[in-house]
Amino acid sequence: MSRRPLIAGNWKMNGLLADGVALAEGIAAKRKAQPDLACDMLICPPFPLLGAVVGAVAGSGVTVGGQDCHGKTAGAHTGDTSPALLKDVGCSAVILGHSERRTDHGETDAQVKAKAVAAHAAGLLAIVCIGETLAQRDAGQTIEVNKSQLKGSLPEGANAVNTVIAYEPVWAIGTGRVATPEQAQEVHAAIRAELAVLIGEAEAMKMRILYGGSMKPENAAQLIALPDVDGGLIGGAALKVDDFWAIACNC
Ligand code: G3H
Repeated sequence: MSRRPLIAGNWKMNGLLADGVALAEGIAAKRKAQPDLACDMLICPPFPLLGAVVGAVAGSGVTVGGQDCHGKTAGAHTGDTSPALLKDVGCSAVILGHSERRTDHGETDAQVKAKAVAAHAAGLLAIVCIGETLAQRDAGQTIEVNKSQLKGSLPEGANAVNTVIAYEPVWAIGTGRVATPEQAQEVHAAIRAELAVLIGEAEAMKMRILYGGSMKPENAAQLIALPDVDGGLIGGAALKVDDFWAIACNC
């Protein structure tokens, strides 16, 4: 089964307007020069930069996503952003349930699921993040934790077109400590097996599962080459045009 890799950049809370536009323009220029690179590319800037970044990548094939959305279409939710608005300003995807949202904002699996339902209703690709902490890994709970988060966060109607899973071991995020290929493949394979239970074998085989956590140009090749790794959700290395592009060039 060949799945087209997705190389997604999560800029998190980094950069000002000029930085974001320059970064987006740099990535777009490289993509335009190499349109046949065998992967999809997505960048997810902070909310206030979305409009400018959508404009900066227009016509390049690079797509834009949000880093979160609300589970409702509109209403009295100060500080939140609806999936409908993300779609309206030119986004095609949204990251949901990132471990930083789960930790900093107490997001639960049920809330992630509700957000994914709303994202689907708005026509957005939902990138559903799961991953174990170091304490959970050390306690031998890695597979159980990931299966539980997946089951709790995956919405009804999830399929390979509207949903991507991102496996991000929390201990590897922003630490420089990347999962070994063996660790990554073991968890990705377990996630795909659980997907088969949840959405059926055929759809599970088509659904992309990204790895995230200290993916860099120097370790991306061996991760992306793994049988159940279908690209990356990249933080720090997505903030430099050359690093992000070098990772994509492994596809
Ligand atoms: O969403 C991205 C991940 O949290 C990975 O971040 O590449 O800086 O470790 P990182």
